[in-house]
Amino acid sequence: MAWQDLIPDDLAHRMIALRRHLHANPELSNEEVETQRHLRRALEAEGLGPVRDVAGTGLAVEITGDIPGSNRALAIRADIDALPIHEETGLPFASQKPGVMHACGHDAHAAMALAAAAALAKRRNEFSGTVRFIFQPAEEAEPLGGRRVVEEGLLDDVEAAIGIHVDPYLETGRIAVAAGPFTLASDIFDIVVTGRSAHAATPQQGIDALAIAAAMVGEAQKLIARETGPFEPAVLSVTGFKAGGAYNIIADRAELKGTIRSGSRESRVRLRRRLEEIAKAVASAHGASAGVTVVEGEPAVINEPEMVKLVSEAARNAIAADSVVDLPGWAAADDFGFYSQKLPAVYFRLGVMQPEATETYALHHPKFRIDEAAMPLGAATLARAALDFLAGR
Ligand code: NI
Repeated sequence: MAWQDLIPDDLAHRMIALRRHLHANPELSNEEVETQRHLRRALEAEGLGPVRDVAGTGLAVEITGDIPGSNRALAIRADIDALPIHEETGLPFASQKPGVMHACGHDAHAAMALAAAAALAKRRNEFSGTVRFIFQPAEEAEPLGGRRVVEEGLLDDVEAAIGIHVDPYLETGRIAVAAGPFTLASDIFDIVVTGRSAHAATPQQGIDALAIAAAMVGEAQKLIARETGPFEPAVLSVTGFKAGGAYNIIADRAELKGTIRSGSRESRVRLRRRLEEIAKAVASAHGASAGVTVVEGEPAVINEPEMVKLVSEAARNAIAADSVVDLPGWAAADDFGFYSQKLPAVYFRLGVMQPEATETYALHHPKFRIDEAAMPLGAATLARAALDFLAGR
């Protein structure tokens, strides 16, 4: 079943028109009010429903096959939010909102999921079981929509989940997927070092919080360089340092901030614990104290091997025999990690590289663009994977 059979021309045209409308009218995380309204109308125009509001500004709709007997159920997730970036693509359907842009392709994700839902609805008489399409808000910023989807129980009655993300560095006609960690968990930390101020000419009378915090920055690097295995994905970046202010006063307070990225629950727990130990030990070695706060963001997306096979076979059938490439995951985070933490799940990347573009722009770049010719391929892969899943293949 090739992609043209699943996503006929008229549906492809509506999908691309929907994507362009969303692109021109982007909304930030948890503010997707018009997006929600427009997607609801577009879903209902395809004859899909009932459509429910979920996770605040998101939507869910189920497509159930007419063949009785199966209670298999699958979730397909598309994120729908945009970013605080001022668009510079010059496209005719560029953002009409200064400072807000669909620079991560979520407009395309939403449109592809809608097309896949419409494709399945047309084939209700060919399958048994249910696919829940989740149009998820707030992938980009807290409070994260993925966490809320789990809290609202939207994954309690499904067996597995599929997520899709566009990849501007992969050619149209290809998907990238592999088992194991495919994005990294993202946690943030703040460290406050408290010393004692003194005149800069008599530092021995104080406790220099700035010098102690500087040592912490160096020690923290060793958690990755010396304590983490070479095949274990992990990043620790100190991204902020604030201390002192005068030429002649020893700083009594220093603040560090940064992020920890990890590819497994074990390394996530270990790096957090070790950062706290290092900060407190370095501080106490010099008579200072350190307070460490870690705020957990999204977990890593861990691709389940059987689900990877499912999506790979679907792409080979729907796109082309050579469409699947085994590339490493992304260090960036995605709150689809909340889904993969709960269920067997797969997150795959869809190639959307502009065929004639002289330069390729990354996700979150003001000139980020996609090749819309990839969209029917992505939608067909989702639909095909769902049909295969429900058929137990
Ligand atoms: Ni994204």
